[in-house]
Amino acid sequence: MSYSIVRRPRRNRQSAAIRALVQETTLSVDDLIFPMFILDGQGVKSEVKSMPGIYRYSLDTLLEELKEITDLGIKCIDLFPNYSEDKKDKFATESYREGTLYLDALKAVKDRFPDLAIMTDVAMDPYSSDGHDGLVENGKILNDQTLEILGKMAVAQARAGADILGPSDMMDGRVGYIRKVLDAEGFTDVSIMSYSAKYASAFYGPFRDALDSAPRFGDKKTYQMNPANVREALIEAELDYEEGADFLMVKPALSYLDVIKTLNQNFDLPVAAYNVSGEYAMVKAAAQNGWLDGQRAMVEVLLSIKRAGAKVILTYFAKEFALLQTQV
Ligand code: PBG
Repeated sequence: MSYSIVRRPRRNRQSAAIRALVQETTLSVDDLIFPMFILDGQGVKSEVKSMPGIYRYSLDTLLEELKEITDLGIKCIDLFPNYSEDKKDKFATESYREGTLYLDALKAVKDRFPDLAIMTDVAMDPYSSDGHDGLVENGKILNDQTLEILGKMAVAQARAGADILGPSDMMDGRVGYIRKVLDAEGFTDVSIMSYSAKYASAFYGPFRDALDSAPRFGDKKTYQMNPANVREALIEAELDYEEGADFLMVKPALSYLDVIKTLNQNFDLPVAAYNVSGEYAMVKAAAQNGWLDGQRAMVEVLLSIKRAGAKVILTYFAKEFALLQTQV
């Protein structure tokens, strides 16, 4: 009895060895950036409730953790600061003040781990009493006045040793402005990974818990993008490209795989994607309930982001993935 099925795709799935041969997308720790949180104090390691396994560290415990993760092969971190309310003001002045927690931490990390690439966040929200990424006046977010603050923040971070700056604020013209002030100060080698297509998303919830940085009024819809739009992402990416960005980022990742693909097809710069706090929390919550296999879900999530076209993935799973790699 013979059937005339000529093409049998299952032949390429019949053994682990053959499946490995035909696997199109692979993941490596080299692709990952680990976002981490720092706060004031000593000996602190406090878990973010909505992000099991993710902690806010004081500088001393952060340095210990960095030893561990660099030993696991992680080569880049993205550091975010948590400031107490009394340090925040309208103008986010703490963001560029000499001797402030965040800038001192960057210096200390660079000093101890010179080969580790450090990415920073350029936006006002963790330092702003309004909890917005830009300067607020009469309930409005001012664009051009915000750029001056971002410029000071960017130069201060570069001076402290940042390798890659991540403007996450979505003000118009910020990449060009930051590039100009960096170059004027001699920081021509400091890279910019622009949050090009950053959407006004519900998936940032746990991150805002981690930093106590939720907006005090309103939402971020006048600067972050509408989740319904993809053509608009091309405009944002094109501007960032022209203004001198070194990487284009899409954020969040999972609900925006089409945006990642679109940017990757239209631009030759490396595309990054931010697998955000809420995406991490969803997998962790389901896994803790025994509703799915967390480890398999993690790998599937990361693979899907890479397959869509992201070369770089910012993910809270970075350490867990690195640990898994050392086991196999
Ligand atoms: C702030 C910033 C946010 C994130 C990174 N930088 C939150 C926001 O825009 O409200 C979110 C990261 C995450 O959810 O993991 N500019």
